[in-house]
Amino acid sequence: MNRKKLFLETYGCQMNFSDSEIVVSILKDNNYDLTQEYKEADIILMNTCSIRDHAEQRVLNRLNEFKSLRNKKPEVLIGIIGCMAERMKDDLLNKENVDLVIGPDAYRDIPKLIEEKISKGQKAINVVLSNIETYDDINPIRYDSNGISAFISIMRGCENFCSYCVVPYTRGKERSRNPKTIIKEAQDLFDKGYREITLLGQNVNSYKWEENNESVDFPELLEQTALISNLLRIRFATSHPKDLSDKLLHTISRHENICDFIHLPFQSGNSRILEKMNRGYNRDWYLNRIHAIKTIIPNCGLSTDVIAGFCSETEEEHQDTLSLMKEVGYDFAYMFKYSERPNTYAWKKYEDDIPEAIKGRRLQEVIDLQQELSLQSNKKDIGKTFNVLVEGTSKKSKERLVGRNSQNKVIIFDKKNYKAGDYVNVKVINCTAATLLGEAI
Ligand code: 5AD
Ligand code: SF4
Repeated sequence: MNRKKLFLETYGCQMNFSDSEIVVSILKDNNYDLTQEYKEADIILMNTCSIRDHAEQRVLNRLNEFKSLRNKKPEVLIGIIGCMAERMKDDLLNKENVDLVIGPDAYRDIPKLIEEKISKGQKAINVVLSNIETYDDINPIRYDSNGISAFISIMRGCENFCSYCVVPYTRGKERSRNPKTIIKEAQDLFDKGYREITLLGQNVNSYKWEENNESVDFPELLEQTALISNLLRIRFATSHPKDLSDKLLHTISRHENICDFIHLPFQSGNSRILEKMNRGYNRDWYLNRIHAIKTIIPNCGLSTDVIAGFCSETEEEHQDTLSLMKEVGYDFAYMFKYSERPNTYAWKKYEDDIPEAIKGRRLQEVIDLQQELSLQSNKKDIGKTFNVLVEGTSKKSKERLVGRNSQNKVIIFDKKNYKAGDYVNVKVINCTAATLLGEAI
């Protein structure tokens, strides 16, 4: 039988990219191979994100391009999978006229739904969320990988219900994956030459596996993964401040190969806004966790997420966000304007009352400050030597390599005889706000 062609585009978070690797694996077993050219595809899938309105608009614009292709080539199937499938199911089927709508817990069903669509001609949908699906027996195909770093999804879903966030509605209940399957996947990757693994989940540090009388929590899972080999670096994302235990910090500090880097979203520096966001901590509590990190893991790299212009945020409260950023001195940040999401608690109960222009100005202030903080942090590294895991050749020059240090900073340096997968000691000689420049010693 002739194999068919799948074109797959992924939007949104790392979890989505990880899910796409599962989807490719499922479809490969069902007669589909990836193509880079959508015009020659038999099926086009978009793995989508609903976190902000802008993310959804991008997908809908791109969808129009795919629909024009289908006008000329009616046998092409177009499917929306992931968070938008979950959130906008009816609109996608009726208004947008897509052929397949498949939510994040229904990927095993894709081959059957395609078959149904082809044989019966009806649009096919499955957006049922599951309490147990973790895809733990499916071997993801790392189709877009550098062969050195890989992501392993360890849990799915989220039950934190931050008032602004759509994720609990699009990805359902929190569930952890069997640790044995996680360790096996990590070991297999190491055996294939991978040297860095990032354990992924919407809220990794609330990972908990229980079976019979045994249980494994996140620090224990992290430790088990680190014990695979000293040559395997371990990272994780994303952590929620409320679950960031000292036990986790001590585990990181005990193992050289668990990277000294934590992504810890704070969202706002003001306690009233944090309460309205339902984050489960206030400013002091968050700063106390930062203090614990800095004490237990000196020189820990820190990054964060922040939202500007949440409902009713005053100028003073916005200043609290800026002052918290300075106090912590983040190395890096993902920064957003608040975007109201239908059906969330904030959408139901609060007015989205900060005018667009003010949101934009506040966000720009956050971005400008972070630019300064990143530059300051990088300047402090000049003269220091770091152990760098080489990821590949620099995009700008074939004579240079790019890698990261434990703190997750990108370092560029001369190639010499080094190659991807090597660990190299690199002395930093210069920097920009985004990268360190160094030389191998
Ligand atoms: N508007 C803006 N940013 C949001 N995020 C989540 N929901 C929204 C929203 N409605 C941000 C948060 C989160 C990151 C993944 O996206 O900062 O940590
Ligand atoms: Fe986007 Fe959140 Fe869904 Fe990831 S989980 S794709 S960030 S909405």
